[in-house]
Amino acid sequence: MNVPRHVGIIMDGNGRWARKRNQIRTQGHLEGLKAAKRIVRAAADLGISYLTLYTFSTENWKRTADEVGFIMGLVKQYLKSELDFYRENRIRIRHAGDAAGLPADIARELVSVCEDTRNFEGLQVVLALNYGGRDEIVRAVRRLIENGLPAGEIDEALIQRNLDNPDIPNPDLIIRTAGEFRISNFLLWEGAYAEYYISDKLWPDWAEPDLQNAIAHFQGRERRYGGVNS
Ligand code: IPE
Ligand code: IPE
Ligand code: MG
Repeated sequence: MNVPRHVGIIMDGNGRWARKRNQIRTQGHLEGLKAAKRIVRAAADLGISYLTLYTFSTENWKRTADEVGFIMGLVKQYLKSELDFYRENRIRIRHAGDAAGLPADIARELVSVCEDTRNFEGLQVVLALNYGGRDEIVRAVRRLIENGLPAGEIDEALIQRNLDNPDIPNPDLIIRTAGEFRISNFLLWEGAYAEYYISDKLWPDWAEPDLQNAIAHFQGRERRYGGVNS
């Protein structure tokens, strides 16, 4: 069957998950991390090549210092504690987003994990961390201007080549959990022809069957890319 090569996930609903249980928001993030681990495993098992996880947006800095600090702590812990799992499963970790805007210890850890896993040829997991689709495009355009490119030479292929991970194919399927029908600045450029799937289920409740469901929906879609299928 036609398994999407690249799946992106807007992992939303951690706060609501906690609120439903009269717990604090951070408890939801803790459960969200467990879901992320389940879904990484499932994506590898299902033969997906690239999985982009929207982990922290350029807008998420608006949250309280406590919540931001907690999420950053979780990310750091995740990067460290999962290294053996990545090795065993030949999983390559990559980053999308502005590393310069991350706390120095997180940025260091991220660089180190990306480096340690760079030759693994299994699933590639892209952590979108301090990521915003608009910010990514701005940084790409800045690079082009810094390289002295004349305006007339700038085209779509050149912008694509200056995005954060230019070698990764555009996402085929973008999933959003927790029922909101919006993109929240995720993969704006890359998602131009992605298929979208919205699930009401909150992210901490996600498990392999949910990913399988999303893929089954994707397999039923007709992708036309603006053309006409015969
Ligand atoms: C997603 O869950 C996690 C991040 C954005 C970091 P939320 O924290 O946005 O959960 P809700 O939307 O408040 O339920
Ligand atoms: C999107 O979720 C960002 C991540 C999942 C990391 P948000 O919860 O930040 O999005 P909005 O605020 O509902 O648009
Ligand atoms: Mg949210």
